[in-house]
Amino acid sequence: MHDIIEQLERKRAAARLGGGAKRIAAQHAKGKLTARERLELLLDEGTFEEWDMFVEHRSADFGMADQKIPGDGVVTGYGMINGRLVFVFSQDFTVFGGALSEAHAEKICKVMDQAMKVGAPVIGLNDSGGARIQEGVASLGGYADVFQRNVMASGVVPQISLIMGPCAGGAVYSPAMTDFIFMVRDSSYMFVTGPEVVKTVTHEEVTAEQLGGAGTHTARSGVADLAFDNDVEALLMLRRFFNYLPLNNRDGVPVRPSGDPAERLDGSLDTLVPDNPNQPYDMKELILKVVDDGDFFELQPDFARNIVIGLARFEGRTVGLVANNPLVLAGCLDIKSSIKAARFVRFCDAFSIPVVTFVDVPGFMPGTAQEYGGIIKHGAKLLYAYAECTVPKVTVITRKAYGGAYDVMASKHLRGDVNFAWPNAEIAVMGAKGAVEIIFREDKGAPVKLAAREAEYKARFANPFVAGARGFIDDVIQPHETRKRICRSLAMLKDKKLENPWRKHGNIPL
Ligand code: HXC
Repeated sequence: MHDIIEQLERKRAAARLGGGAKRIAAQHAKGKLTARERLELLLDEGTFEEWDMFVEHRSADFGMADQKIPGDGVVTGYGMINGRLVFVFSQDFTVFGGALSEAHAEKICKVMDQAMKVGAPVIGLNDSGGARIQEGVASLGGYADVFQRNVMASGVVPQISLIMGPCAGGAVYSPAMTDFIFMVRDSSYMFVTGPEVVKTVTHEEVTAEQLGGAGTHTARSGVADLAFDNDVEALLMLRRFFNYLPLNNRDGVPVRPSGDPAERLDGSLDTLVPDNPNQPYDMKELILKVVDDGDFFELQPDFARNIVIGLARFEGRTVGLVANNPLVLAGCLDIKSSIKAARFVRFCDAFSIPVVTFVDVPGFMPGTAQEYGGIIKHGAKLLYAYAECTVPKVTVITRKAYGGAYDVMASKHLRGDVNFAWPNAEIAVMGAKGAVEIIFREDKGAPVKLAAREAEYKARFANPFVAGARGFIDDVIQPHETRKRICRSLAMLKDKKLENPWRKHGNIPL
């Protein structure tokens, strides 16, 4: 028996060594941690239960029969993050460059299947050269098996991808179907075709970093939600992010007790909005002042900055926040911001996370770039997402809510549960200047007359009381009491029940 136990330990030690000391040193030299070191940081100490440590690939071509490394390039299992269950896989670049074989894919599928059965999130740490070249179509089949599970798990358990090395070719489509993608700056990249193929096909010269680095995907493409400076920071932030998430679509939001009083007032909010309606202000200031302990986990902060999305808590319970930001493009809705917010609203809805929306929107962005780019279809995504959403919805209009954008931003008409406006809010078809130029076109050459008309229009419509008179706004509130009123609304809505009619699925304008 003693021998057998020793043998087991030897086998385990060999598996833990992955591709060997030299390759581990090479990994460290690139500033990257190994697959196991990453899991040690991600999970609560001593909680990792590893599965399939002894799995080996089954290929014999290209000398592979003699190159078997236990675990086959991915470390899988489950553990805890702050005492809450999570399934994980961590690709081991020291073993065949973390390339995905049939057996490697089977390991990933096994944890995904189990995560769905027990209702726990899946976190993938990606660091891989893609399909295991020696295996051919078996590897492609493995990818497709993972893709299928990504889709089946979507909206059932949260899925998060942390890209910590290469992620190229079709391999990008597994992370793409997860709920969130985080990247590590300078050591990770994602692209469908690499710089060499790009050069051959389009004659563009581009580096891997320019093509698919963290900067590209967090600021230009919007593929990734956040980027971090190194592995350690990324893993610690992922732990923090995890604390906000429900474990599955039936679990409800986690509660983290907070000492921040629900009735806390903030007098500085009364002067947040400038007197001049064309002067910008930072909507994030409002967010930080009303959420529990000023703790806001913003997502996609560098992409479509005219809308802000992220997770925070009110009275300890997770809430999704969506807010126009007048600081960027006057807070207009455009293609990118509509897509950004729509996907986030759908995530919140899928996992029963209430949505709080702060509105200061002058409308949809005009111009050929937007129209040719399909703002009609993309703007409809956000409209659809809000309209379909059945979780508690609390909306606060802080200034402008004009035109179609008023309707879109969680208005009463889209089943907003509680709709507040600040006293200075302007809820109208459009701004006063544009409005009088259209309806009093005959006064165009008479600026004094036009100014009087504008003042009249403003007095009549640029306020929240016209909407209030129709019940489209439940109450006009003082800015300083915003937190209190949101907390009360969310508490009232805690057990809200609302179901959409049965259907196979809707047809969101993709
Ligand atoms: C098998 C691979 C591999 C792969 C890397 N390795 N990629 N083995 N299949 N796909 C091995 C290398 O042979 C090497 O083995 C070790 O991993 C480390 O690779 P290096 O090249 O030394 O590392 P580095 O210089 O950091 O470059 C990393 C890399 C490069 C950029 C990822 O290895 C590379 O370009 N690999 C090929 C990428 C690729 O074309 N993949 C297929 C894409 S198509 P040794 O023994 O020397 O340590 C695809 C389709 C998916 O993925 C479709 C899904 C539907």
